[in-house]
Amino acid sequence: MVQTFDVRLCNETHGDYAMNAIETAAAVKLSAKESSLNWYENGTSRIPFQVYTDAQLHQRELEAFFYKSHWCYIGLEAEIPNVGDFKRTAVGERSVVMSRDADGKVNVFENVCAHRGMQFCRERHGNRKEFVCPYHQWSYTLKGDLQGVPFRRGVKQDGKVNGGMPADFKTEDNGLNKLRVATRGGVVFATFDHAMESFEDFVGETVLAYFDRMFDGRTLKILGYNRQRIPGNWKLMQENIKDPYHPGLLHTWFVTFGLWRADNKSELKMDKHFRHAAMISTRGNAQAANEVSKVSSFKETMKLHDARFLDIVPEAWWNGPTAVMTTLFPSVILQQQVNSVSTRHIQPRGNGEFDFVWTHFGYEDDTPEMTERRLRQSNLFGPAGFVSADDGEVIELSQKGFEQKPSHRALAELGGRDVGDTDHMVTETLIRGMYAYWRKVMNE
Ligand code: FES
Ligand code: FE2
Repeated sequence: MVQTFDVRLCNETHGDYAMNAIETAAAVKLSAKESSLNWYENGTSRIPFQVYTDAQLHQRELEAFFYKSHWCYIGLEAEIPNVGDFKRTAVGERSVVMSRDADGKVNVFENVCAHRGMQFCRERHGNRKEFVCPYHQWSYTLKGDLQGVPFRRGVKQDGKVNGGMPADFKTEDNGLNKLRVATRGGVVFATFDHAMESFEDFVGETVLAYFDRMFDGRTLKILGYNRQRIPGNWKLMQENIKDPYHPGLLHTWFVTFGLWRADNKSELKMDKHFRHAAMISTRGNAQAANEVSKVSSFKETMKLHDARFLDIVPEAWWNGPTAVMTTLFPSVILQQQVNSVSTRHIQPRGNGEFDFVWTHFGYEDDTPEMTERRLRQSNLFGPAGFVSADDGEVIELSQKGFEQKPSHRALAELGGRDVGDTDHMVTETLIRGMYAYWRKVMNE
């Protein structure tokens, strides 16, 4: 059934948009259509649990969001500084390899041998002159072109040639599946969709400004990785970072040590499709934390054994905000929390699980003290982090709730039922925006 969709789109410069959106009660409503899901008032303020539990919807999401029309995160150029360096990663559920060729160019190709389909690359990182598939030793260049096929011309026996590939077999037609690659500020994105709009158009100028703030051309320095497998739907991770309601409530640590509070000066900004967002917060208001939070988890007496975790040194490139969390839909979260900077890569594994890969980095011009500081502050994040361990657990338990009652729905009505940028954090508008986009693309 063809649908019409009348979600209000904000323009990239925003202006009065947030006010207008709040005044416009019908800002996010799909016109009457047949969806297999039950959306309250045909909007996105109540999210059917089925979007997290339905395996068929998940397959459609992979096709619609990860395998076409979207630039997906691959990694940082600093992970493969030299010719022949490579990294194995994933786009959605498809394994891919990023490699640097002899011309210094970054290539991304699918980790599926052109012969009989084996995932030929097993190491996560390494350096190669070429890629050789172990099964029958077909070999590929660093660009993903097929260069060698054993016994291509057959074997000479008793004066005649036996076997070999057909005479019309061409190596040029049998390379690896190459993705289109975009790099900006040292970050690598790729897409299977060769007709994609540019990366810059995909992100949109509002969110691109926050991307460029963190990736401003300085060479990046890799500090390390965290990996976790979270038993929940991949969209919950996007939602978690589009949800400024929870940090001051779930993460006691944040509140106690003043890193994130509901009264921080803050803004939420989206691209014109509502798929990407930046959550921008500036620490430093004077009220005592417990006056604002009034949350049961707040513990005034909690003390750090090592105060260096909070040895925060403002940096010029922050240009004000002390924390900016950027969600690029569907595949990555870009994190700045004071001096800790990282990318967080979402790699789905079926509808009920995803891998979450954190790359902690710094900048080449960091002093050794700043590198140490970034590493210490990275203890906030990752599977065992003081903050992010909480997120993994609530995502797992949310998925459990959905599975036990798939006909029910989640409520995302904080701040109203509309979608628009705001200058405060007490809203779930970014989640409503993400599902407005999801509904449009999924036709659901
Ligand atoms: Fe790769 Fe045969 S499957 S060489
Ligand atoms: Fe969180």
